[in-house]
Amino acid sequence: MSVRRLAPPDMQPPSFAFTAENAEWVKATIAKYPAGRQASAVIPMLWKGQEQEGWVTHPMIESIARQLDMPFIRVLEVATFYTMFNLEPVGILVQVCTTSPCWLRGSDAVMDACKKHIHPHQKTLSADGKMSWMEVECLGACVNAPMLQVGSDFYEDLDGPITEKLIADLRAGKPVKAGPANARHSSEPEGGAITLTEPSLYDGSIIGKYKPVAPPPPPKKPGEA
Ligand code: FES
Repeated sequence: MSVRRLAPPDMQPPSFAFTAENAEWVKATIAKYPAGRQASAVIPMLWKGQEQEGWVTHPMIESIARQLDMPFIRVLEVATFYTMFNLEPVGILVQVCTTSPCWLRGSDAVMDACKKHIHPHQKTLSADGKMSWMEVECLGACVNAPMLQVGSDFYEDLDGPITEKLIADLRAGKPVKAGPANARHSSEPEGGAITLTEPSLYDGSIIGKYKPVAPPPPPKKPGEA
């Protein structure tokens, strides 16, 4: 496991506060836990803080520790243990799956697009400071390989040119469509379904049409007529 440290002091912002809306969310989240167990809210709070700021800062950890009445080191341990927490600015983080199914279906081309348009090295901010990318293990969308994740959204059925356009649109702040980039709606076969295509399966017309089949009689015992 790699060593994970907070960003150096000169990169840290002077302070942190949840927005009014997020502060309400934090209040409701802490209230979900029984008295004395408020520290259980530490991961959701770090996650919400990261959603707000894009990464986990030193002042954010201090603020969360204060709100949960936890020692700073306990919150720091959580933030540095889980790799889902970004410990330095990442901009728009593009997570490219390169596990076997995605690799077999062309994740090299997806990575090449990231190398070309974001940065030659993963986990490094682009020159404009807006984006970074990283390789990740299977994200559970193998049937739509190759794919990548940005925030909570999956972008699937990619190739090199589609990824290049996606990066350009994300960088420009244009709306982008999550999900399959081809004609698929979800994970049905490319070109459309080839089984269970009979419309009557779905329109209710066969309800009551067929009588239940009677079970076969039990086998006769030896000597039984
Ligand atoms: S291998 Fe890429 S999502 Fe599973």
